[in-house]
Amino acid sequence: MTRKIILDCDPGHDDAIAILLALSSHELEVLGITTVYGNVGLEYTSRNARIMVELAGKTTKVFAGASRPLLRERISAENVHGKSGLEGPVFDEPKLPLEAQHAVQFIIDSIFEHPNEVTLVPVGAFTNIALAMRLEPKIIPLIGEIVVMGGSTTLGNTSPAAEFNILCDPHAASIVFSSGVKLTMFGLNLTHQCLATPDRVAKFKALNSRVGNVTVQLLEFFKLAYNKRYGFAGPALHDPCTIAYLIKPELFTVQNMHVEVDVLPGPSFGRTVCDVWDVTGKPANCDVAMTADADGFFDLLIERLGTLE
Ligand code: BDR
Ligand code: CA
Repeated sequence: MTRKIILDCDPGHDDAIAILLALSSHELEVLGITTVYGNVGLEYTSRNARIMVELAGKTTKVFAGASRPLLRERISAENVHGKSGLEGPVFDEPKLPLEAQHAVQFIIDSIFEHPNEVTLVPVGAFTNIALAMRLEPKIIPLIGEIVVMGGSTTLGNTSPAAEFNILCDPHAASIVFSSGVKLTMFGLNLTHQCLATPDRVAKFKALNSRVGNVTVQLLEFFKLAYNKRYGFAGPALHDPCTIAYLIKPELFTVQNMHVEVDVLPGPSFGRTVCDVWDVTGKPANCDVAMTADADGFFDLLIERLGTLE
């Protein structure tokens, strides 16, 4: 049985690879791709999503969503992803049109159309998901589950305490984490285990295909920030971890715990406070990914991207 998903993203190099993995995997039916501001502005993320759909040889619909957070001012990550959000390869402008419907309405309609069957996969700011929950609260008990890339059990990457996607819109993230929907979190504690090291990048190159070559060019650009800031041997493939989990959950271990988002101004603004040792006794609301079979994850990525031209 295929699982119906909506991938909510802000491409972004790792978002782009998540799109390729989702669109090349028979286990998933991608109902649509929704975009949000984040790594770069909404115009670019909506363009980049359509570029990746075309690269995958598909016609999956792309819906543009929020262009700014609920309350705070917008932040972005051109320092990591470059001006367009997808620097590295040279792309033609996409021919695939952007859908006229707003992403938030598409999310709402899809959940009503397929009650309890839709998995939402936000891998950017959570603004679209929070807006859908606020605009039409009746969808909340009808959401199958939510698998997110965001947060961390440990340190942040955009402030010492906060991860980028959460810090983009902590209030939206708080709405999602406290919604009561079945939730799985892939935070930096997990995604930093999944690095595109040179030997792994060489395997994408060996695919000897357009998708393989574009992936290598994306990873070569993306690695610059990771080499510089963290001294990592390669960039962390954050967003594709969520998709890999939906395809092959055995690649990861998760731990059920209470997670809440700090929305108070101050140095911990946007932190996902993860009660790993259950010191609060508060009810668990999230499966938090803790360990990854990184080789298995890259084997899956290379196998699936290898099915694309
Ligand atoms: C997250 O932030 C973005 O820059 C990436 O695309 C990923 O979703 C990692 O913190
Ligand atoms: Ca992202």
